[in-house]
Amino acid sequence: IPEGTDLKKEIRRLCKEKNAIIMAHYYTIGDLQDIADFVGDSLALAQKAATTDADVIVMCGVHFMAETNKILCPDKTILIPDLNASCSLAESCPADEFADFVAAHPDHKVISYVNTSAATKAVTDVVVTSGNARQIVESFPEDQPLIFGPDKNLGNYINSITGREMLLWDGACHVHERFSVEKLVALKKEHPDAKVLVHPECKGAIVKLADVVGSTARLLKYATESANTTFLVVTESGILHQMQKACPEKTFIPVPPDDATCACNECNFMRLNTLEKVYNALKFGWPTVDVPKKVAERAVRPINKMLEISE
Ligand code: 13P
Ligand code: SF4
Repeated sequence: IPEGTDLKKEIRRLCKEKNAIIMAHYYTIGDLQDIADFVGDSLALAQKAATTDADVIVMCGVHFMAETNKILCPDKTILIPDLNASCSLAESCPADEFADFVAAHPDHKVISYVNTSAATKAVTDVVVTSGNARQIVESFPEDQPLIFGPDKNLGNYINSITGREMLLWDGACHVHERFSVEKLVALKKEHPDAKVLVHPECKGAIVKLADVVGSTARLLKYATESANTTFLVVTESGILHQMQKACPEKTFIPVPPDDATCACNECNFMRLNTLEKVYNALKFGWPTVDVPKKVAERAVRPINKMLEISE
């Protein structure tokens, strides 16, 4: 990249030239959220991909999000700024092992969190995000046995609020699992009036301390609409950018991980997305994300089912 390039200006110019849009998840760096055409949670990003008329989507998020876009828009070019932007939760559920688990329980319907590979989605009946998991689980008759994968924390939380006893896959997100109960309790003592905003990928002991449990979009909405002025935020700290932007007068405190050296809990995969990489991806049309046709044909059904139910 030539020295002195105004990256933001050049990125916008390339988007126009290539009829491209930039979509960003709330966990990406603030600069990317600011330059994106659309910022959202996993559900909103899938909904947006399903309806955009752009020819190219640059997905600033992680690999499974780009795969979902490709499955929904097989004729579009899906670019991802860094192919190494994986997801520990998606990786905790290898498709072949999940397929064996599913095959061992033929009477069960299979619900998969969107944080899964396309191949895992291909052996799924319906996909969910943290924004619609409860609604979709409750759309099944109460006596229908269910498998829920891969996030055991989200699965346990949904079991607890719905009274279901879904069979859970033993997966988790390394970022949300490392929040510290001790640090959260200490912060609650320091800020007794603060509301505690928790993502359901956190462990049960953290969820128990929450005032609100929800997807990134739900937590943002709650913070924006609440009369409260101080919030303890227990999810990836990128979301604080939108919270602070929406409510400059309010105080948002990121809850640290169980690691003495970090003040913020960041997803190393999400942080691989940079302005430089977005510029290069647009300029060179690479790296693209593709999904084998056979896998895509099977994975599109549970994704569309989710989109229909969450309309
Ligand atoms: P949301 O669906 O709430 O945006 O969460 C996505 C994610 O990766 C959480 O770690
Ligand atoms: Fe995956 Fe966790 Fe990162 Fe979300 S925060 S993308 S679940 S590793």
